[in-house]
Amino acid sequence: MKEKIEEYVRQVEAFNAQTLEDLEGFRIRFLSKKGIIPELFAHFKEVPTDQKKETGQSLNALKQSVQHRIAENREALSTAGEGEKEQSDLSLPADWHYQGTRHPVSIVKNQINSIFKRMGFQIAEGPEMEDDFHNFSALNFPPEHPARDMQDTFFVSKDPDMALRTHTSSVQVRIMETRKPPIRIIAPGRVFRNEAISARAHCIFHQVEGLYVDKNVSFAQMKQTLVQFVKEMFGPQAKIRLRPSYFPFTEPSAEMDVSCNICKGKGCNVCKYTGFLEIMGCGMVDPNVLKACDIDPDTYTGFAFGMGVERIAMLKYQVNDLRLYFENDLRFLQQFHSSMD
Ligand code: PHE
Repeated sequence: MKEKIEEYVRQVEAFNAQTLEDLEGFRIRFLSKKGIIPELFAHFKEVPTDQKKETGQSLNALKQSVQHRIAENREALSTAGEGEKEQSDLSLPADWHYQGTRHPVSIVKNQINSIFKRMGFQIAEGPEMEDDFHNFSALNFPPEHPARDMQDTFFVSKDPDMALRTHTSSVQVRIMETRKPPIRIIAPGRVFRNEAISARAHCIFHQVEGLYVDKNVSFAQMKQTLVQFVKEMFGPQAKIRLRPSYFPFTEPSAEMDVSCNICKGKGCNVCKYTGFLEIMGCGMVDPNVLKACDIDPDTYTGFAFGMGVERIAMLKYQVNDLRLYFENDLRFLQQFHSSMD
């Protein structure tokens, strides 16, 4: 048996499969039920006792080298195959890769930012988790004031002073605390409200808010700035309408409507037959807000405005279900293409 094993060891070492079929033949010859290795094991009991140890060891070694040879050959054949494929495929077009598109909310947010940047507004950012002062108190929402109910949010149980911001007006406060007028900023960002999710409401959405504080800033300047924005965003035919409203941090305050771009102002079910759609809140910064930020309201005045990015996207793309903007369904997202980056 010793000689037989030695002979097989030589054969195994010399073996080099050219094809997978060769390799399979080799495997069957040595390892199948009736192959060489099981047969040698079957005859093992006939080996004289004093040779059992040595023969057993070489038999095991043979079995291992067969297995090793098979694995080695298989790998060599598969990489060789790949190499061949690569070479013969050189003339084919490259594999297709999905490049991705911008999210519609990002596309619209970038457009809003770029319109205001061209009018001299700088972009400002602040934290999503805010303290009571920046989100409410400095903005003239006294504690217990019912206006806080309009913007219920998510509080942090460990620290009752902290909450997820309900608007990016908190960024305006942070900027007014640290800079002297003239201040001309827009604050894009994610905001949070305690709302049940539906086609028209979501607990997370995006805003762009704006602030301009300087000497002699007037309501007329605010109106002209917003007219300019609307015409750039929706086209030169777009008109605006201001309706008196209430916000704790502006006085006077207004809601701004834009003429419906679906029926062109004639009246349809989207604009509920009014010809106009509400897109933002705005007004003159309340003197109390300026005071809370150490800006003298007798010297300076300012205007502020704020809009929901999803709302603008809904009008622009005429996709009226807010939930679609958060589900990240590629069939929806792949339909939007941005020409500006
Ligand atoms: N902060 C307001 C909101 O979230 C929007 C707004 C901003 C209104 C500035 C007036 C002035 O609803």
